[in-house]
Amino acid sequence: MKRIKETEEKLNSLFSSLGLKTGPIYCYDSVRSTMDVAFDMDEDDIKDKTIIIAQRQKRGRGRHGRKWYSAHGSLLFSLVLNQYDIRLPYSIIASFALYKTFNHHTQKVRLKWINDIMWENGKKVAGILTEERLKRMVIGMGINLNDHSIPRQVEPVATSYYIETGERLDRDQFLVSIIDEFLSLLTKTEKGSIEEILTAWENEAGIRNRSVRVIDGKREIQGTALGIDKKTGALKIRIGKDQVEVYEGTLFYT
Ligand code: BTN
Repeated sequence: MKRIKETEEKLNSLFSSLGLKTGPIYCYDSVRSTMDVAFDMDEDDIKDKTIIIAQRQKRGRGRHGRKWYSAHGSLLFSLVLNQYDIRLPYSIIASFALYKTFNHHTQKVRLKWINDIMWENGKKVAGILTEERLKRMVIGMGINLNDHSIPRQVEPVATSYYIETGERLDRDQFLVSIIDEFLSLLTKTEKGSIEEILTAWENEAGIRNRSVRVIDGKREIQGTALGIDKKTGALKIRIGKDQVEVYEGTLFYT
């Protein structure tokens, strides 16, 4: 676990040039998972909005206990919040920040509940994992940005920005942009505008009235999506005459 001071310095100056206030930025060459680093760090080293970046992860993890495989060129990081409101759907807010950042470069990404970013061809281009314990809310993002290839384990279902466009993006600049978008969404939530953010998310995701199937562990729910709850982000599904709300799971359009 070697620190890459050069990248840390570059990011610090990019953040301050935008007047963005984050906690310390730690950039490593290789870690088990940036999530583990975020939870293992001493309290003194973790301030609110600390950012942990890695060039490689040996055991990156995804939602539902899955592994997160990434290739060279990915942007992998965790953002740690010490001050947070447990009722806020941070993973959806984070997906919106990431979507907005992609939109500065392409119109070909799509939002998929709950927090996936897909390329228009249905392949996954980024994933978000949020975990809360030890009084820390950790938001981890894995973004297939400049990856020339996709690990064989996820090859059929994943892609990267580079593979789709043939263009490389500056990884540090992209990170700064995500944090910028995310912090301005957080400021909005502090002003009580979570409904506004989730309404915009729902409109962009175009999920209403679509036929969906959600798989959550052993449970499988099939019906018509009515939209998301504007406070929690839960997916509202109509099944015949009934309506259910789902808080987790993998969504498929049917
Ligand atoms: C998912 O779609 O299942 C979520 C994937 C989240 C992956 C990122 S990569 C950076 C951070 N560290 C991890 O181990 N996981 C998250």
